[in-house]
Amino acid sequence: MFQIIYRETLATKIHLFKIEAPAIARKALAGQFVVIRIDEKGERIPLTVADWDEKEGSVTVVFMEAGATTSRLALLKAGDSIADFVGPLGIPSHIDKFGTVVCVAGGFAAAVIGPIARALKDKGNKIVSILGARNKDLLFWEDRLRSVSHRLMVTTDDGTYGRKGVVTGPLKELLEGEEKVDRVIAIGPTIMMKFCAQTTQPFGVKTIVSLNPIMVDGTGMCGCCRVSVGGVTKFACVDGPEFDGHQVDWELLLTRQRIYLEEEKRSLEQWQAQMGKRA
Ligand SMILES: Cc1cc2nc3c(=O)[nH]c(=O)nc-3n(C[C@H](O)[C@H](O)[C@H](O)COP(=O)(O)OP(=O)(O)OC[C@H]3O[C@@H](n4cnc5c(N)ncnc54)[C@H](O)[C@@H]3O)c2cc1C
Ligand code: FES
Repeated sequence: MFQIIYRETLATKIHLFKIEAPAIARKALAGQFVVIRIDEKGERIPLTVADWDEKEGSVTVVFMEAGATTSRLALLKAGDSIADFVGPLGIPSHIDKFGTVVCVAGGFAAAVIGPIARALKDKGNKIVSILGARNKDLLFWEDRLRSVSHRLMVTTDDGTYGRKGVVTGPLKELLEGEEKVDRVIAIGPTIMMKFCAQTTQPFGVKTIVSLNPIMVDGTGMCGCCRVSVGGVTKFACVDGPEFDGHQVDWELLLTRQRIYLEEEKRSLEQWQAQMGKRA
């Protein structure tokens, strides 16, 4: 069992768990993920490693309540334990000296892009970050991302904080600006990553995205996380999750993410009904 040693709600329906997992804390690198299972009957879900502390033997994950499993997870408290916490999985982010790197984060990705931006900054890159959310209540860790960036811009769809609009607005302006952009890293909802890749493509700027197809085992065995990149089939859990955004078949990914919508809806309703009975 893996104990939750600290928990915090960062924004509406977005929670941070610090989990005691010394073996993973020793090996984790930016861009990797873990697969967790709350209990023996639970569904396996992947979560990106948002931070780790080798000395403390802890790994931090940040998750957004999306359906039944993440809603169940949100009810756990510090001191509770989860059955499985497997990782680190996936290929770590490619960290090198590129020049000026624009890091774009949407939704829960404000947490996961932090270690990547930090590692890139430590390598000597200039980091310009764009943080986006639907509204002010969903924003978190602005300060943390600012501390690993040379410049940070914040957008909200409804204009309740920062600049009104979506992340592709400032991204396009940066690409059109005088300073050369050498690389873009975009992490967040699939649709956001797709539009970031479409924005950068005419400028020919390499754009890395972290794909989030449905995953089960996270070790390349079930085939569930199949994606198509440059016309070649890849398994996001072992070949990724980061890929060249200009090569991704976005329509296939979006379609495959929706395969179990009915089951996911039913599962959430069952969970909500169960909770209603208990209340
Ligand atoms: C490599 C990777 C890293 C991720 N990192 C994070 C993270 O750090 N924080 C975060 O909030 N979310 C992250 N996600 C997404 C997270 O795994 C899903 O939100 C979660 O599985 C939803 O489960 P659910 O039962 O609560 O919701 P459901 O109602 O079951 O699903 C809601 C939506 O989440 C997606 N989803 C469902 N099951 C899975 C699954 N087993 N694997 C992947 N996606 C699924 C589907 O698109 C689905 O439509 C990551 C996904 C991947 C692939
Ligand atoms: S999650 Fe099973 S092959 Fe990737």
